Amino acid sequence: MTKLTEEKIENILSSIIDIHTNQDLVSSDNVKSITIDDEIVSIELLLKYPALNYHDELKDSIDNALSKAGVNYSNVSIKTKIKPHSTQSGVSPLPGVKNIIAVASGKGGVGKSTTAVNLALALQSEGAKVALLDADIYGPSQPRMLGAKELKPKGDENGNMKPVIAHGIQSMSIGYLVEESAPMVWRGPMVTQALEQLLKNTEWSDIDYMIVDLPPGTGDTQLTLSQRIPVSGAVIVTTPQDIALIDAQKGLSMFEKVNIPILGIVENMSIHVCSNCGHTEEIFGNGGGRKMAGNTDTNFLGALPLQLDIRTDLDEGKPTVIKNPESPAALIYQEIARKVAAALSLQSETTGAFPNITIE
Ligand SMILES: Nc1ncnc2c1ncn2[C@@H]1O[C@H](COP(=O)(O)OP(=O)(O)OP(=O)(O)O)[C@@H](O)[C@H]1O
Ligand SMILES: [Mg+2]
Repeated sequence: MTKLTEEKIENILSSIIDIHTNQDLVSSDNVKSITIDDEIVSIELLLKYPALNYHDELKDSIDNALSKAGVNYSNVSIKTKIKPHSTQSGVSPLPGVKNIIAVASGKGGVGKSTTAVNLALALQSEGAKVALLDADIYGPSQPRMLGAKELKPKGDENGNMKPVIAHGIQSMSIGYLVEESAPMVWRGPMVTQALEQLLKNTEWSDIDYMIVDLPPGTGDTQLTLSQRIPVSGAVIVTTPQDIALIDAQKGLSMFEKVNIPILGIVENMSIHVCSNCGHTEEIFGNGGGRKMAGNTDTNFLGALPLQLDIRTDLDEGKPTVIKNPESPAALIYQEIARKVAAALSLQSETTGAFPNITIE
């Protein structure tokens, strides 16, 4: 066998593609160290997004490539470091929070809240510290979906609130403060103020990703978000139906206008699987989200079926990612979470970076 060199190992690593970033490990600067001790090759990798559920697969593909090249003993370790990424210009960062990701749609009822809560919990299962902000002031869903509607945030001596912890994630919602059945009649400016208070008067601690569950449409909340909240990226949820796609397109354009990058599109309710007989039916059509992603040059993140237990798990307060983490739906949410975080990791970082300046 020819002598092993670091250069040769690096060459091998440059042929391994990370399936979430679509980049090889060397060009995406993931290789922290390579040491060769006799015949034992040790490699330390540093990923820029959380992917605990992908580490084994990645290690296997490295081990395979190494053994094909004649390396018999290898030792691969993977660590993760999540950085803050840039946001719209002129908005200051939120203390305790590295990255804010908005989940939006345009059309109501397509599954934003369902996607937001499962995405948040899936990011946690990949190893991140996560928060979930329910930005739906008129119709908050998250306290119920998180099984936390009986809980109240605790106040502290500075007049701030501690987030409610549910299934390990930090959360805040107007639903924790107001009775569920109370009608919420708010004027636009009050909505803006309520949202800002929920966000800024909560003591978030050490968060890698905050997921913001937006209400439908492109109204006051979206305006506040785009002008006053430091958002690093957005995820668009749509059903495959034409009418939802048209609205999703509006949502997408809104984020582009304010320079918030779109991290990808999730197609929800894409196919119905009968829980009795397994028969499949495309109730809202199929493939519309993927097509939209293709037409707008956006990542397609994945498709969730219209499936009874996705809803019943939420009604129980145990989203599918928690209730049934090995189920096909939970695995789809985990893959979406890795792709979202990987897409964000490719955006520019804030530490030491020159601020974004846009001239309009
Ligand atoms: N993939 C799915 N399979 C089955 N039920 C689903 C699925 N996605 C969402 N639902 C159900 O559809 C309803 C609407 O979902 P959700 O509340 O997440 O939509 P939304 O876009 O947040 O709505 P709104 O615009 O009112 O905020 C809920 O009852 C939810 O449980
Ligand atoms: Mg909702």
